[in-house]
Amino acid sequence: MSHIRSRFSKPPEEMVIHYTSSLPFDYRLYPEDIQGSIAHARMLAKQGIISKKEAREIENGLLAIKTELDEGRFEYKTELEDIHMAIESRLFELTGDVAGKLHTGRSRNDQIALDLRMFMKERIAETSRAITNLQAALVKKAEENIEVIMPGCTHLQHAQPVLFAHHMLAYFEMLERDRERANDCLKRTDVMPLGSGALAGTGFNIDREYVAQTLGFGKLSNNSLDAVCDRDFVIEFNALGSIIMMHLSRLAEEIIIWSTPEYSFIELDEAYSTGSSIMPQKKNPDVAELARGKTGRVYGHLIAALTTMKALPLSYNRDLQEDKEGLFDCIDTLLMSLNVFAGMVETMKVNRERMALAATLNYTLATDIADYLVNKGLSFREAHRITGKLVNYAAGNNKQLEDLSLDEYLNFSDCFEEGVLNINASSSVEARDLPGGTATKQVTRALEKARAVLKNNLG
Ligand code: ARG
Repeated sequence: MSHIRSRFSKPPEEMVIHYTSSLPFDYRLYPEDIQGSIAHARMLAKQGIISKKEAREIENGLLAIKTELDEGRFEYKTELEDIHMAIESRLFELTGDVAGKLHTGRSRNDQIALDLRMFMKERIAETSRAITNLQAALVKKAEENIEVIMPGCTHLQHAQPVLFAHHMLAYFEMLERDRERANDCLKRTDVMPLGSGALAGTGFNIDREYVAQTLGFGKLSNNSLDAVCDRDFVIEFNALGSIIMMHLSRLAEEIIIWSTPEYSFIELDEAYSTGSSIMPQKKNPDVAELARGKTGRVYGHLIAALTTMKALPLSYNRDLQEDKEGLFDCIDTLLMSLNVFAGMVETMKVNRERMALAATLNYTLATDIADYLVNKGLSFREAHRITGKLVNYAAGNNKQLEDLSLDEYLNFSDCFEEGVLNINASSSVEARDLPGGTATKQVTRALEKARAVLKNNLG
């Protein structure tokens, strides 16, 4: 029977063992658990709570266990409840009674909080890198296609011509906000909870600062009751993951639409496409569709974590063990999605002719014509009214605005002159020459800024 059941006279039901065990998923925390335990043991020795020799024996035992785990030689026993007990129990086998001294001044409640925070600090850094990687792919695509004009949409209806690069950089901006959110989440994850004990702290003369420094934490937790049951950092990461997946699902949706034969704006590389088991001609954007689909699962983890925490009294409750599976799946899904998107964006072929052709279809230059009339002295509302009539006329005669002659223009307003015939997709784009606008000069500047951000984030 496990050594934490000393007060019991019978073992747990087989079902109870499986119901309560977190080992099937928290095994992932073993590197952090061992690193945290070594720091704790060294601190105990430094404070004279255990001897230096005992600390060394414990540390050597933990390192040997780490090797077993790294090499897949470790025997997981579900009845040991969690990764903490599994490692401690093996430590007893390897080092004997000295193993019993490791848990002095510590509880699994502050131990799991520590492990999870250490683990998350690394994953947040990894998320940041994956974001930067995808941003780099977007910048590269934008640069390669700096002269490509496409129809910008509102309501998924053609609205005004924009540079394809401008469109790509819109996603760069979303991801940059995500990166900032990741940095912010890191601040509240980078808090060292050990010393909180089960809930009230510990009576041993431990040195929390030393542990924090050894493990590279920026801050100590302020309140033991809070520290053993604070999972805000888990919720924040799930929220971050949800927002990133929401952004990816938007890009996914566009990629799916753009690669339909009706649009044919882009072609996905074969390496990022899938086939059909029945229709030999098919080339499907499953990667994008799956990202769109996985977004729902990640949102689910956020709601699950919030719901687990809702109305949970202080301090530690076993409910908290439910934080991990969703969080781990959120991390895995998020990192895979970011990485696969970087490859998909980098390899996708941009069909500039199709985009250029569509750029002025469906009267996307109407705003430019209205603006033209405003520059001739009309009010914008009047200009809007006249242009509306013009569009109506063109549509009724199966013409695009560029097909109209000056005489036809003059039927609607005598303010029109020769110059109106020079309005085209390119003039429309270049007219929006203000910070944040789609003119080539502005987008080139935005690309320079984006490259500087990338350099900074990579460095
Ligand atoms: N496996 C537990 C968890 O994930 C570790 C802490 C156990 N503490 C306890 N009092 N049973 O939360």
